[in-house]
This record gives sequence, structure tokens and C-alpha cells, in this order.
Amino acid sequence: MENGIRNFEFQNLTKIVFGKDQIKRIDGLIPQDAKVLILYGGGSVKKFGTFDRVVEALGNREWAEFGGIEANPTYETLIQAVDKIKVEGYDYLLAVGGGSVIDGVKFVAAGAVFDGNPVDMFGSGVGKGLPVTKALPFGTVLTLPATASEMNNNSVVTFVEKQAKISFASPHTYPQFSILEPEATYTLPKRQLANGIIDSFIHVMEAYLTYPIDAKVQDRWAEGLLQTLIEIGPDVVEEDNHDYATRANFMWTATNALNRFISPGVPQDWATHQLGHEMTLAFGIDHARTLSIVLPAMMKVRKQQKWDKLLQYAERVWDIRGDSNLTDEEKIDLAIKKTEDFFASLGAPIRFSDVELDESDIPGLVEALVRHKKENISERGDFTSEDARAVYTAAL
Ligand code: NZQ
Ligand code: ZN
Repeated sequence: MENGIRNFEFQNLTKIVFGKDQIKRIDGLIPQDAKVLILYGGGSVKKFGTFDRVVEALGNREWAEFGGIEANPTYETLIQAVDKIKVEGYDYLLAVGGGSVIDGVKFVAAGAVFDGNPVDMFGSGVGKGLPVTKALPFGTVLTLPATASEMNNNSVVTFVEKQAKISFASPHTYPQFSILEPEATYTLPKRQLANGIIDSFIHVMEAYLTYPIDAKVQDRWAEGLLQTLIEIGPDVVEEDNHDYATRANFMWTATNALNRFISPGVPQDWATHQLGHEMTLAFGIDHARTLSIVLPAMMKVRKQQKWDKLLQYAERVWDIRGDSNLTDEEKIDLAIKKTEDFFASLGAPIRFSDVELDESDIPGLVEALVRHKKENISERGDFTSEDARAVYTAAL
């Protein structure tokens, strides 16, 4: 295929407000006369004082709250927020939490003003996949660096009844602003910190580990993010290490991993994510912990298709250079091993057996992928359900 960055249009509409003690800036970011609905998760933001700081920043504005958005937010919960907005009338939403709350609020913001049944915002066999043409304005206060949902327009929603975990995106679902205080990460347990490093790493890999088209900026930016995550990962997960500089690098790297700055005009994969979503849906495994299992297996099974980029990854990210006396294949295999070791060093699972799954779980996962029309995915659209079976098998 011809070299060169593909034609693209790119616009990211989110204002980032980054640093120490920035929640108070909300006062200048939301219209004074707005009636605000604050949405949050299972209660961490109340426990750690973030909620109170948000309320203080809202000053005299009228506000109400909607809590209880789960990790891997469900349609069944979110539709209750949609109904609340329709009945009580809010004109600005504020998401306070991690990726699940922010994703949930994107759906609520669009669902509250959608013409028709909000389920039809989704495709993949669940709804009609209709375009989202409007949404209520919303901002976010990020408490967990991982998804970059704070600076993109994606939303991943779980349908409990229909047994699906699928996404939608629209130009109308960018947050208007996101507050990023690195100190918000100090209360995260090690497992969530590791999740954040791994999810970010794999967001970069989905946009990078495809085939080369001589997109120098995207490649080197991606390699810089990967190297940053490898460098800071051990410090981020170290117990009681609240070094501000480390956490600031962590937060900003996670945002850059999926705010689309590294992906305009380049081929992208996302098969690892699709295989991971089925594992979360079926077994409730954290999003990032599915990815740390699937990615190394994906690299092994798709070695031929991804050969050139795997070699570039080995050389530039892990510094396995030409003078190492290794064949190209040995360099690639070593890079895959180093990737696995990095994930494992953070405490993440890298095999089915690490999360108590085995061979008997694979047919159900493959069937679900087919049911959700997640076939012919990958950078060339050539990844079939048989490839998925091979990847799951390589991860046993
Ligand atoms: O619910 P609360 O009580 O707030 O606790 C949360 C939750 O239990 C807790 N937490 C968050 N901030 C905290 C904290 N605990 C202590 N201190 C803090 N500062 O962490 C737990 C996990 O939170 P969650 O929001 O679920 O995690 P994450 O940010 O990893 O989001 C995962 C969701 O995002 C989707 C995933 O599929 C999953 O549903 N993704 C969204 C993407 C996007 N919008 O672009 C891309 C990703 O690939 C991903 O698919
Ligand atoms: Zn992810």
C-alpha cells in the first residue's frame, strides 16, 4: 500500500484545565445561570472530598446529583439519569469520576435530547446505530487516568439485558472542559493505578502496532508515550509514592494516549479492545486486565501481519537494536516478552489462568464477538472469529 499519512480531518473540542487546585475553576467554565446535574460513581468522590469541592465551586447555581454509575456503566442505570433530566430539566452535566462515569455522562447527555429511543444510538446488533446529532453540554472532573474519556468523544456502555458492551461516538460528545488534578490519583488503589498504565499503553498500541506508512510524528509521539509509561509505571504503582511529578506525567500521558493526537491519518487496530470487552462482559474482569491478557497473545498470533511495526517497536521502544546479534524474529519475540514482563511487574494478569479462566471459556467469547458483529476488525479488516479463537487460545 502507498506510503504517507492518509487524508484526515481533526478537531478536538475539549478544554483541559490541568494542575493543582483547579476544581475551583469550574465557576468560570459553566454558565452562571445553568441548572447543573452532577453525576458520579460508587461514592469514592464523596469519600475523598472531591464532590464537596465541586459543589463549592458551583456557588449559587442550582444543582442536583445522580450517583451510582457502575464501573463499566450500564444502560439500565444511565437511562434513569436520562429520565431524571427529562422530568427535572437540567442544562449542564458534570461528570466527576473515572472513565466509567465520564462515558456514562456522554450517553446521558446525548440520550436526554435524542429524537427517538436512545438505544438506537448504538449499533452492533443492539440498536439501529443512528447518528447522534446533539447532546447537552457537559464538563468532567477526572479522578482516574486511564481511558482519556476526558478528552475524547467515545462512550462505552454495557447492556445488561441484551448482554453487550459496545460504544458510540459523536462530534457532540466531547466534554466542553475537563479538570485534571494529578493529586486526585493519590487515593487510587494499586490495582486501578496499574489499570491506568496498561489501558493507556494499549490505547497507544492500537493506533501504532499496525503497518508502517511513514507517519513520523504519529509514530514518534506514540513511541514517546510508550516509553514514558514504561519509565513511570513502577513509580506510579509503588505503595505510598505520591510524587507529584510522576502523577502529573501519568495523568497527561493517559490523556494523550487516546485524545486522538497520535492517530489522525494512520491505520488503527482495536481488535485487542474488542476481544477484551467480551471478557469484561462475560466475567466482569476490569477493562485493563482483559487487555494485558489479550495484547501479548495478539502480538504473537498477528506477528506476520504486524512484522514491520513489531520490529520498529522492539528497536525504538525497548532499544533492542541492530547490533544486538539477534535475528529480526528474535528481536520481536524479545519485545513481546518484555511487554508481558512489564504488565506482570505492575501486578496485572497476562494469561487466562491468572484470572481463573480456561479453554472451556473460549467458545462463548468467540460466539459473543460474532453476535456483536465484531468480525473483520483490525487495521486491514481481516481479523476473523477464527483469529479471535487463536488469540484467546494463545493467551491460555
Ligand atoms: O465508582 P467509584 O466509587 O468512584 O470508584 C471507582 C471505580 O470503582 C474507582 N475510583 C475512581 N477514581 C478514584 C477511585 N478510587 C479511589 N480514588 C479515586 N481517585 O475506580 C474504579 C474504576 O473506575 P472506572 O471509572 O470504572 O475505571 P476506568 O477509568 O478504567 O474506566 C473504565 C471504563 O471505561 C471504558 C471501559 O470499557 C470501562 O467501561 N473505556 C472508555 C474509553 C473511552 N471513553 O475512550 C476507552 C477505553 O478503552 C475503555 O474502553
Ligand atoms: Zn481501553
